[in-house]
Amino acid sequence: MSYTIGVPKESVPGERLVALVPEVVSRLVKGGASVIVERGAGEGAFYPDAEFEKAGARMGSREDAFGADILVKVQPPSQQETGLMKTGGAYIGFLAPLDQPGIAKAVAARGTTALSMELVPRISRAQKMDALSALSSLAGYRAVLLSSTLLPKFFPLMTTAAGTVRPSNVLVLGAGVAGLQAIATARRLGARVSGYDIRDAVAEEVQSLGATFVKLEIEGQDSSDSGGYAKALAEEKAKQQVSLLVPFIGKSDVVITTALIPGRKAPLLISEEAVRSMAPGSVIVDMAASNGGNCAMTEPGKTVVKNGVTIVGETNLTSDMPVHASQLYARTLLAMLEEFTDENGFAPKPDDEIFAGSCVTDGGRIVHDRVAALLS
Ligand code: NAI
Repeated sequence: MSYTIGVPKESVPGERLVALVPEVVSRLVKGGASVIVERGAGEGAFYPDAEFEKAGARMGSREDAFGADILVKVQPPSQQETGLMKTGGAYIGFLAPLDQPGIAKAVAARGTTALSMELVPRISRAQKMDALSALSSLAGYRAVLLSSTLLPKFFPLMTTAAGTVRPSNVLVLGAGVAGLQAIATARRLGARVSGYDIRDAVAEEVQSLGATFVKLEIEGQDSSDSGGYAKALAEEKAKQQVSLLVPFIGKSDVVITTALIPGRKAPLLISEEAVRSMAPGSVIVDMAASNGGNCAMTEPGKTVVKNGVTIVGETNLTSDMPVHASQLYARTLLAMLEEFTDENGFAPKPDDEIFAGSCVTDGGRIVHDRVAALLS
């Protein structure tokens, strides 16, 4: 018995990605699924309907796509969209359950089994399903390119007929997936780069990319934990961190911030004092803008100039590279679909570590403890 996978057009303004690309549709169709793509779903990412049809998809209406047995999406469904979802169907995609638990509640009310791509555990077996890492890497790259065009200076050392210009200084705060890609990109462009993270464990990685690791003298600074994520710094240490960072920020032309602990408000790393310490024309790209920002002066979704410093609070950097972002995202969804379907459709194994980690709603209930706690 064949089952359907639905791919609607994303409706959030500015979102250009599409959940599945033709290459992945073709794999799913060969595997026995029937894929329904909403007409025009791939336009923003330059994947025309004809390419989807060639890959074996059936083009349909919005209702057709939402009504599929398994719905795949990039952005969490809106309240209105949850009303179009098949009762008792499955959902695989971003769901933002820790930031917007109300959506999970609406999805649960449809009797949907929903897997949240944000919650896929960072374990080796789930690497190919790690959409956050794939997209963070792209966003780290994009953040640096954006900063390089906004900065009224060169990044590399330039020897010209009129003399030599020194390279720009780029500081990257938070050296996780996005941060390391930002460091590598800024190095490729020829900047002098430093990286900082509360986890000392990443110093070697930062240095292996040709950057300097900034070590602050904070007592008990190393916050590596078994899940690979950093623990929150105690309030006092966090204050110390903010003030110790000021001189490093002050001598940077560009600061890219990526520091975040999942499910929490982004930590403040750049105070107003730090912004004032930067030379006019300098640039901050705050990648944590959607979670409140790492910079005190960030305005989410906007680019503002404060004391002569351009502060970018863009919350969807990956949407500016929709071709590759959709391709990589679709591959992570393919890995999830291959893992959790059989020839009859959605068939997860409840005790599977990846399923248990990412499943938010099942049988009409919220089954994820942290999401349930937020709602109670
Ligand atoms: P990650 O978890 O791999 O890296 C975050 C890093 O920040 C970790 O190394 C952690 O140790 C560090 N960190 C946490 N608290 C810190 C603190 N107080 N001081 C210094 N370092 C600290 O996360 P990933 O995947 O690199 O994502 C980073 C950020 O980029 C997230 O906020 C994510 O939402 C954002 N992002 C933004 C996009 C956009 O369009 N603006 C697109 C994709 C990701």
